[in-house]
Amino acid sequence: MTERISLAGKVAVITGAAGAIGSATAALMGRRGAAIFAIDRPGTDFAPLRGLMPPGARLETATADVSVEADIANAVAAVRAAFGRIDIFFNNAGIEGVVQPIEDYPLATFRQVIDVNVIGVFLGLKHVLPVMYGQGSGCIVNNSSIAGLKGTPGLSAYTASKHAVIGITRSVAAEAGPRGVRVVSVNPGPIESRMMDSINAGQSPDVQAARAAVSAAVPQGRYGHVDEVAELVAFLASDAAGYCHGGVYSVDGGMCAV
Ligand SMILES: NC(=O)c1ccc[n+]([C@@H]2O[C@H](COP(=O)([O-])OP(=O)(O)OC[C@H]3O[C@@H](n4cnc5c(N)ncnc54)[C@H](O)[C@@H]3O)[C@@H](O)[C@H]2O)c1
Repeated sequence: MTERISLAGKVAVITGAAGAIGSATAALMGRRGAAIFAIDRPGTDFAPLRGLMPPGARLETATADVSVEADIANAVAAVRAAFGRIDIFFNNAGIEGVVQPIEDYPLATFRQVIDVNVIGVFLGLKHVLPVMYGQGSGCIVNNSSIAGLKGTPGLSAYTASKHAVIGITRSVAAEAGPRGVRVVSVNPGPIESRMMDSINAGQSPDVQAARAAVSAAVPQGRYGHVDEVAELVAFLASDAAGYCHGGVYSVDGGMCAV
């Protein structure tokens, strides 16, 4: 019997692919046999990602600002030129903004977070879905967050943007299901990463205390690891997850259960 969790023969496109979760997911999908097209913002050095890929895995890269439609259109054209198809799209690029109460939150930063996290996800869907519709198959995993499911003081822009990712996932799932394409969201909790370090530093001058408070809010009592997110994304993108569609899939140590 074919191993249905294998990604052999599949083409996976990942935005924010040079970041913590993106690069772990690219490496795991590469180990499972997928060819990877990695996209990250202009100026990105893809060498560290290349170093994570297993020997023999195919990796193509392109720079694009996910909030700029021409950039995304060009990147999708480059994927088609390189591979001719897209089986998996991990719509992952995102930024955290700053940690400020709403009365102090700078408008320009709020707009930037919405631009990358919401407009970026929208543009990815807009340009990748027609490719998948043409194939009659494919899976898109939008990276939301537990911030898509609950509020956190000081993180209004990020929280609003991640709630929006769940909303657009549900709406597009209704459009895409009849056309053979699955669309889901993943909702990571606090993951050991630069992004969480940045949020902790914004929450308290005592970063260790901020870290301890986060861990205490997780029933498993710890941060997650990027590989634990990658495993969920790779499963959802595989044929083994054929009936997972339109859902919100948490990987958060139980944080949203309490
Ligand atoms: N780290 C966590 O604890 C955590 C938890 C829940 C959800 N998430 C989400 O996971 C995703 C990845 O986060 P991460 O922890 O890997 O962060 P990261 O900062 O390591 O990676 C994000 C990547 O996105 C890229 N990026 C940012 N703006 C971009 C733009 N305009 N165009 C193209 N690329 C752009 C960055 O260059 C970076 O490589 C984000 O959407 C984040 O909100 C992270």
